[in-house]
Amino acid sequence: MVITKTRSPIRSNVGLKAVMAVTGILLALFLIAHMLGNLKVFTGETSFDHYAHWLRDIGKPLLPGVWFLWILRTVLVVAVVAHIVAATVLARRARAARPVKYAHRKKVNGSYAARTMRWGGVIILLFVIYHLLDLTTGTLNPVGDASKPYGNVVADFAPERWYVTLFYTLAILAVGFHLRHGAFSAFRSLGQQTPRGERRARTAALVFAVLLCAGYLVVPFAVLTGLVS
Ligand code: HEM
Repeated sequence: MVITKTRSPIRSNVGLKAVMAVTGILLALFLIAHMLGNLKVFTGETSFDHYAHWLRDIGKPLLPGVWFLWILRTVLVVAVVAHIVAATVLARRARAARPVKYAHRKKVNGSYAARTMRWGGVIILLFVIYHLLDLTTGTLNPVGDASKPYGNVVADFAPERWYVTLFYTLAILAVGFHLRHGAFSAFRSLGQQTPRGERRARTAALVFAVLLCAGYLVVPFAVLTGLVS
C-alpha cells in the first residue's frame, strides 16, 4: 500500500501568499467599512452615537448581547496575527534564499510603498494599540465615555490636542502606503500580466489608497478646524 502524505499548503510560499491575500482583503474590507462609519460624524452627534450603539446590537436577537462584535473582533485579531506570521516567514525564507545582498537594491526592491511594508506594518500595529486605548476603552481619551463616541472623537481632535491629529495623520499615511502596495499586488495578480495591466493596477491601487486616506483624515481635520464640534 502506498501512503501519500499531503503537504500542508502553508508550507509553500504560494500557500503563505494566499494567507497574506485573504487576510489582507479581510482587513481592507474592515478599513473601508470603518472609514464609511466614521464619516457619519458629519451627520451629527445623535446619528453618530446611534450608529455606534447599533454596531453593538448587530445580530440580535439571533445572537445574544454583543456576540457579533466579539466575532468580528476575533476574526480581525486572527487575520492580523496570520498576516504578520505569513509575512515574517516569507521574509525569512526570501533572506535565507539570498544570503548575499543585491548590488542594486533599490531597483530590485521596487516602489517606496513596497520597501516600507515591514516598518509600515509595525507603525500601524502600534497605532491600533493606541487607538483601542483611546477610542474603544477610553483610557487615553479626555472624555473616555463609551456611551458617547461622538464626544470622545470631538475631545480627541480638539485644536489644543493638535499632536493627536498629527499622530493619527502619520499613522493613516502609513496605512495608505501599506494598502497601496497590498492593493497593487492583489490587482496585479487578478488583472492582465502585461505592462498595460500593471500600469492599471498601479493607478487603481493609488486611487484606492488616496480615497481611503482622505476618508479617514477628513474626520480629525474637521474637528481641528471646528467644522465638527
Ligand atoms: C481618523 C481616523 C479614525 C477615527 C476617527 C476612528 C474612530 C473610531 C472609533 C470612534 C472607534 C470606537 C467605536 C466604538 O467603540 O463605538 C474605533 C474603533 C476601532 N478602530 Fe478606528 N478610527 C480611525 C482610524 C482607524 C484606523 C486607521 C484603524 C486601523 C488601522 C482603526 C481600527 C479600529 C479598530 C480595530 C477599532 C475597534 C473596533 C472594536 O472592536 O470595537 N481605526 N475607531
